[in-house]
Amino acid sequence: MMRALAGKLPDVGTTIFTVMSRRARELDALNLGQGFPDYDIDPRLAELVAAAMAGGHNQYAPMEGLPWLRERIAARLGAVYGLNIDPESAITVTLGATEAIYSAIQAVVAPGDEVIAFDPAYDSYEPAVRLAGGRCIRLPLLQPGFRYDWERVRATVGERTRLVLFNSPHNPACVAASSADLAALAAVTRDREVLVLSDEVYENVVFDGAAHHSVLSHPELAARSFAVFSFGKTLHATGLRVGYCVAPPALTRELRKVHQFNTFSIAHPLQHAIAAYLAERPQWGRELAGFFQAKRDRLRAALASSGFRLPAAQGTYFQLLDYGALCDLGDLDFAERLLTEAGVATIPLSPFYLQPPRLTLVRLCIAKRDSTLDEGAARLNAFAARLRGG
Ligand SMILES: Cc1ncc(COP(=O)(O)O)c(C=O)c1O
Repeated sequence: MMRALAGKLPDVGTTIFTVMSRRARELDALNLGQGFPDYDIDPRLAELVAAAMAGGHNQYAPMEGLPWLRERIAARLGAVYGLNIDPESAITVTLGATEAIYSAIQAVVAPGDEVIAFDPAYDSYEPAVRLAGGRCIRLPLLQPGFRYDWERVRATVGERTRLVLFNSPHNPACVAASSADLAALAAVTRDREVLVLSDEVYENVVFDGAAHHSVLSHPELAARSFAVFSFGKTLHATGLRVGYCVAPPALTRELRKVHQFNTFSIAHPLQHAIAAYLAERPQWGRELAGFFQAKRDRLRAALASSGFRLPAAQGTYFQLLDYGALCDLGDLDFAERLLTEAGVATIPLSPFYLQPPRLTLVRLCIAKRDSTLDEGAARLNAFAARLRGG
């Protein structure tokens, strides 16, 4: 008889994103939870996908990604950050950012290695480290404002530290790292065998005129970093599942060793269509900050007199909502009440933590039609009024 199967991630269940989206569908609630747009993609992109399939691009794509697409990515890194990145040796097309993160971690983390991640963090990091046999050390971001405690990071980096997982703009904290943060990250990893994985899927969504600080534009960090990006975010099409990883050739070689046995290569017609779409729009990505800032401002204005507090959102697809002044439930219970009583699905913050502090925050996705945001705000305002009424 086979022993009961424990599996390699016995404590991991279905993610909060999947659970909340499923519950939202079952209850016919408005879904401001999982981070995906509810509006249509640009019809031109759909046309180009159809054209790529009709044009016969339906067999395996090159393992490292379509050269034409990697050239478009390199051209943009040149235009935006002034970088000269070799698409052949330093850019790999992956199955979304998720695969880039997973494959990079498998490529460099060995059993017994330690990886520093922050608390809260995007939920795929820690399981990927554990599957590589590594141990994630989670360092809390400090309140108020989810600030890095660089002194604590410095004190934690040791002989076994292999990787730091960095994310800016940050999901779910909605904060963007400063150039001082990058300088501190460089300092704590200097003269050590420590690499950086920088999740920059929201690189184009930094608000209020601020610049995105990429590890790629910090030469010292660029030399020891995997930087991860997502066309799902950039093209409002999370279902495409196409992303990419930029890393120096030595790291890229290691990444590709895993990538080739993980996904091998990414949907060929999609890569053609994306490359053609980007070629038609040399300025791609630059419109996103204004587009999402207008949505953030719309939602914030609509909730301004609700009694909920709205922490500053410096970037990403999201806006946090702090209900602490109106209700003392835990965030999981509050999200459940919002779902069942207000008909709005949100994402509570505690699943992003290894050790959740006492939190009164839920995350709202702003990548929605204006009418969805307006209806969501109306329901949240009505619910807040009920809470204020006792
Ligand atoms: C911070 C962060 N990293 C990675 C991802 C995954 O990106 P992709 O959908 O391209 O796999 C997401 C998606 O929400 C994210 O928010």
